[in-house]
Amino acid sequence: MSNNTKADWISKDKEHVWHPFTQVSYAPANVVIERGEGACFIDIDGNRYIDGISSWWVNLHGHCNPHIVASVTKQIGQLEHSIFAGFTHKPGIELAQRLLQHLPSFDKVFFSDNGSTSVEVALKMTFQYWSNKGTPKHKVIAFKDAYHGDTFGGMSVAARNAFNQPFEALLFDVISIDLPTDDNMNALLLQLESILQLGDVSCFIFEPLVLGASGMLMYTPEHLQLLIDLCRKYDCLTIADEVMTGFGRTGKFFATDHLTNKPDIICMSKGITGGFFPLGATACKQFIFDAFISNDKMKTFFHGHSYTGNPTICAAALASMDLMESDTVQQQINFITNSHATFANELANCSNIEGVRHTGTILAFDIKTGEKTGYLNNAAEPLAEFFIKRGIILRPLGNVLYVLPPYCISADELGRVYDTVRELVGV
Ligand SMILES: Cc1ncc(COP(=O)(O)O)c(C=O)c1O
Repeated sequence: MSNNTKADWISKDKEHVWHPFTQVSYAPANVVIERGEGACFIDIDGNRYIDGISSWWVNLHGHCNPHIVASVTKQIGQLEHSIFAGFTHKPGIELAQRLLQHLPSFDKVFFSDNGSTSVEVALKMTFQYWSNKGTPKHKVIAFKDAYHGDTFGGMSVAARNAFNQPFEALLFDVISIDLPTDDNMNALLLQLESILQLGDVSCFIFEPLVLGASGMLMYTPEHLQLLIDLCRKYDCLTIADEVMTGFGRTGKFFATDHLTNKPDIICMSKGITGGFFPLGATACKQFIFDAFISNDKMKTFFHGHSYTGNPTICAAALASMDLMESDTVQQQINFITNSHATFANELANCSNIEGVRHTGTILAFDIKTGEKTGYLNNAAEPLAEFFIKRGIILRPLGNVLYVLPPYCISADELGRVYDTVRELVGV
């Protein structure tokens, strides 16, 4: 196998592998990556690519970050994995404690495997919370354009679109509300209140401040606060899905750090391990945990995954937390945030694009194509190809182009990403 050429790898890839979110009938051959270094990938031919989207929003401190590599290497030689029921371990305990230090309104952390499972756990927690309390509630409120993962619960609480259309009949019903804006806020509050007054609402789930997969749609913390406060008034639990927004992406550690009154549950994944391994974590407040304590076995939270709380993965997450808490990373987050703000101003006058927006380290805009804006817009493939040819990974969501880099990106590298965008849009 080691003598295989690039063409061999590509042909074996085509023969044996089914890639996610990929239509093979027209997708170009996958780039065969051999190494990762800082904000870059290096392919089998030695070509470098700047990872402008942090490998699907997971990478924070660069590929093969030495501090995380060292932590994982140490842990894997000591305890690679253990069952997490009846047994516990230092990395799991320390990680829960460390996460909660950044989530002072929360008390317990439940580990799972990825972003979708962190959402499944949150939804099941809320449904069973009400059931355990003897007042079962079955309705869920979510944003019309939401994305919460590809499992059935996650799909159910998401927008009804191409991602889940074949499964629509199998998804549970959800009450959808519009994303808040200055114009619709009053009407939205009235609508939400009328839904809450009908009762039977288990929870309101939302991506705080930025709806990622639906096209980096943004809204303000002030508006979100009003929605959360209203839900609380009517005893409806609130779930912040911070799978994408967590760990610095919006400029603060968590997007919900922009709020005064916190939600009841937080879902975390993606950046939690610095982008090294899959890990889901769902944090909740004590009163939710308390509803599961009983001599009645049926009140137990019967949920778990074989690799729940894997110590090697927790070690990666702990090392990533060391870096997140350092001044260097905070400065980098500020640097990216400020650079995006300046570049967004420059782009605002460009006639080929619209809806230039940014929150923290996330910059997005829509390319005008004459087609409907959205994931199925045919601009996606040529746009991705345009950037790949220039050594930049920007994988648009349809015609929505966004830059969401790892925090370790250098000024030079970010400048190259911006220059390539300038070349595309003609500014
Ligand atoms: C807000 C949000 N929730 C959940 C998920 C699902 O995470 P995963 O792909 O790790 O299952 C994603 C993935 O993009 C996401 O953006």
